[in-house]
Amino acid sequence: MPVATAPVAFYRDPDIFARERRTVFARSWLFFGLEADLARPGDYLADEVAGYPVVVVRTEGGELKAFHNVCRHRAGPLVGDAQGHCGREFVCRYHGWRYALDGRLRSATGFGPADAFDPREFSLFPVRVETWRGVAFVNLDPEAAPLIETLRPLDVLFGNRTVPGAVERRSHALACNWKVYVENYLEGYHIDQVHPGLAADVDTAAYAVRMEGEVAVHEVLATGGAAEGLWAWVWPNLAFNLYRGVLLLEHIRPVGHGQTRLDYVYLHEAGDPAFAAALKTSGELTHEDAWICERVQQNLDAGVYQAGVLSPQRENAVAWFQARIADALAA
Ligand code: FES
Ligand SMILES: [Fe+2]
Repeated sequence: MPVATAPVAFYRDPDIFARERRTVFARSWLFFGLEADLARPGDYLADEVAGYPVVVVRTEGGELKAFHNVCRHRAGPLVGDAQGHCGREFVCRYHGWRYALDGRLRSATGFGPADAFDPREFSLFPVRVETWRGVAFVNLDPEAAPLIETLRPLDVLFGNRTVPGAVERRSHALACNWKVYVENYLEGYHIDQVHPGLAADVDTAAYAVRMEGEVAVHEVLATGGAAEGLWAWVWPNLAFNLYRGVLLLEHIRPVGHGQTRLDYVYLHEAGDPAFAAALKTSGELTHEDAWICERVQQNLDAGVYQAGVLSPQRENAVAWFQARIADALAA
């Protein structure tokens, strides 16, 4: 008997998404940005991860620190822009409390005398930040195991390859639950139907996805020989596509229970004459995947389908993912 899929509520229930924020996203290493954008002390990047606003900053000592972008006074933002330079401290954008870049409250600016007010009790809420080959990840769980424990299978496969330095970004808004897109990424079963152009280049019958820890590794054979690319996905929402010298980081971001944003970061060699064509092909593949994912979401929402089945051979990674989510939700 094949494994049953997750029930339809998994993709359409706002309460499940609210639980995933706490049980999946608040406990996992999440892609945040590029270290190259945090070169000097005081440089910061701010973003939200599954609805949690976070800021990552380079300190004067040269290390990265991360905090919830939430002031301890009345929840104002420490920084208002997605990227910038804050100098030697954060100055809250609401009433001007000043925080050192290690999170200590330096001055509750203009607060006036108040009995038993101890600034040491009002440090910023810390977030974990670690990097892998110039890519910064955050984890809201102070007890989380080091990043490399999640990334090790990918790190081994990546070997001595280098991450190219030129950056190009694209974003795509999708009207589907984030897991619909992730599951689509986790199988090659749909390639013949959805990606006729790609199907001509790869041996789709031999296409396999194997799980190594929390990393899904695609085993792709090009027609006529081995493909030298690397396609992998890391729990819970990041895909790495390395092909012909271009590394695409696909950040699959839940915006709500029925909305997803794909933030793509293409890392390539400056001046690579093949990059424009790679960008075009990537855009076409995304368009094809977006089309099918949005149709699937419409059908999940329509109310006739309750659950289906998964091929043990071709959808093993989808089964792994659904079980992993179920475990997280049960915790
Ligand atoms: S909320 Fe930050 S100083 Fe008031
Ligand atoms: Fe696809």
